[in-house]
Amino acid sequence: METDRAEARARAAQGNAHAPYSGLRVGAALVAEDGTLWTGCNVENASYGLTICAERAAVAAAVAGGARGFIRLVLTSNAPEPIPPCGACRQVLSEFAEELEIVSIADGGRRTEWRLSHLLPVRFRIEEGVSTE
Ligand code: THU
Repeated sequence: METDRAEARARAAQGNAHAPYSGLRVGAALVAEDGTLWTGCNVENASYGLTICAERAAVAAAVAGGARGFIRLVLTSNAPEPIPPCGACRQVLSEFAEELEIVSIADGGRRTEWRLSHLLPVRFRIEEGVSTE
């Protein structure tokens, strides 16, 4: 099944996480409408605030690869319970898929599902007519 394939890819990315400071290793696999998979892991830094979350790393990889229209995000980690995406990642994901399905899988296999629009009911957006220059 597609979600199993995405979980395997997220777990592989999780294995590459650079998380020497928190110890929380996170993998993400974004499933695009065309079935392609785009992965990311968290990349921590000695200057803690520069850390990149797995979800945003996956979005960057997908966009760089030319993908749009995401249908599902599979998140894995070494935490004992499924982790939800942080607030910053919710906003970044919502730019591309307001109705994204999110499946989060904990270390032992426990899983929780959410829809992004439930985790972030109102997103910041630039309205038509507002200059962004
Ligand atoms: N982290 C993610 O990768 N995704 C999230 O949605 C929450 C947090 C990472 C960032 C940091 O490396 C570690 O988890 C602890 O916050």
